[in-house]
Amino acid sequence: MTNDSLIQPGKFPGTGTTIFTVMSKMAQDHGAINLAQGFPEFDGPPLLRERVAWHMANGHNQYAPLAGVPGLQQQIAAMIFELYGSVVNPGRQITVTPGATEAIFCAVTACVHPGDEVIVFDPAYDTYEPSVELNGGVTRHIPMAYPDFRIDWQRVADQINDRTRLIILNNPHNPTGSVWWEDDIESLRRVIDGSNILLVSDDVYEHITFDGRKHLSLLSYPDLAERAFCISSFGKTYHVTGWRLGYCVAPESLMREFLKIHQFINFSTNAPLQYAFADFIEADPGHHARLAAFYEEKRNTFNKLMNESRFRLKPSAGTFFQLADYSAISDEPDTEFATRLTRDYKVAVIPVSVFYQRPPSQHIVRFCFAKHDETLGQAAERLQAL
Ligand SMILES: Cc1ncc(COP(=O)(O)O)c(C=O)c1O
Repeated sequence: MTNDSLIQPGKFPGTGTTIFTVMSKMAQDHGAINLAQGFPEFDGPPLLRERVAWHMANGHNQYAPLAGVPGLQQQIAAMIFELYGSVVNPGRQITVTPGATEAIFCAVTACVHPGDEVIVFDPAYDTYEPSVELNGGVTRHIPMAYPDFRIDWQRVADQINDRTRLIILNNPHNPTGSVWWEDDIESLRRVIDGSNILLVSDDVYEHITFDGRKHLSLLSYPDLAERAFCISSFGKTYHVTGWRLGYCVAPESLMREFLKIHQFINFSTNAPLQYAFADFIEADPGHHARLAAFYEEKRNTFNKLMNESRFRLKPSAGTFFQLADYSAISDEPDTEFATRLTRDYKVAVIPVSVFYQRPPSQHIVRFCFAKHDETLGQAAERLQAL
């Protein structure tokens, strides 16, 4: 017998299922092409998958060390040095986690005390605020505006007070596809100067920037890196989101606190996958460097196809997402428009308003273009009918 009242009051009364789950289920129910949830339609590299099978068959099936398999920590450290010129101690500054999601939760939990304020930028990825609130923190939302979705640093400066504990950054940015410029780094530096504010930098799309733009990692700036948890995702970089693997890089003092949380949530991360990644990155250290060109071509293909539609697109600068303004088609709210697209036109998308505390009046949906060209072609054909 179940008794729903036993669990009441729930910890999260206003919270339902995430928009990604909702739209993916709707896509399935209506037989729609799923351009909603952010996962690639491709499998990871064959060698990587072979190495997983090999390690499972050859005895790497027990708990990995708390912070990760040393061989993988070393590969990550080497990648960070190559990309950002930063020397990190693999054993003390890197923790391999079950996806970026767990790393974000651990980093926030390590910093936020009840009553602390945390700044996020809307539209904000949906795990940030729950992570803050579960720790008794207060989320302060600063909106970014269409079409450039840049951070208004004056608003950040105005928001900061002596309760501000943390700023959560996301660059390249989901869902907007915006990417930081060097002056964003300067502005960040200015607004936190002289404070004890910590930073969580969600960099899961760090390798996916377009048109010659480079990812500006906080790891390249020692004064910012010394107060930052930088988080990445193997799922996004190697097309294996279902494997749930990512990592966090932080100074030793921050990482010690992070590990105190991680050890009681997951203890350690999937062992055979870690061994396999260590092998794979050593065998193909250039994989991440080819990713931007791969996705830039996808973005261009999708944008070209969509030019034949009444959607208006400003090409995304990074990530595998593309926003589209549908105001020439309809003035419905985006949640209704997304439902109608899925149900009647069989293409599932994400309504962007759900990522705002106070959604602005705009008519924008997000497409994921991490799909085969045939899938993008089929979806565009259906969207051209609107
Ligand atoms: C901005 C952002 N952060 C974090 C994540 C979660 O990454 P992972 O699948 O590695 O947990 C995602 C996944 O969509 C994302 O878009």
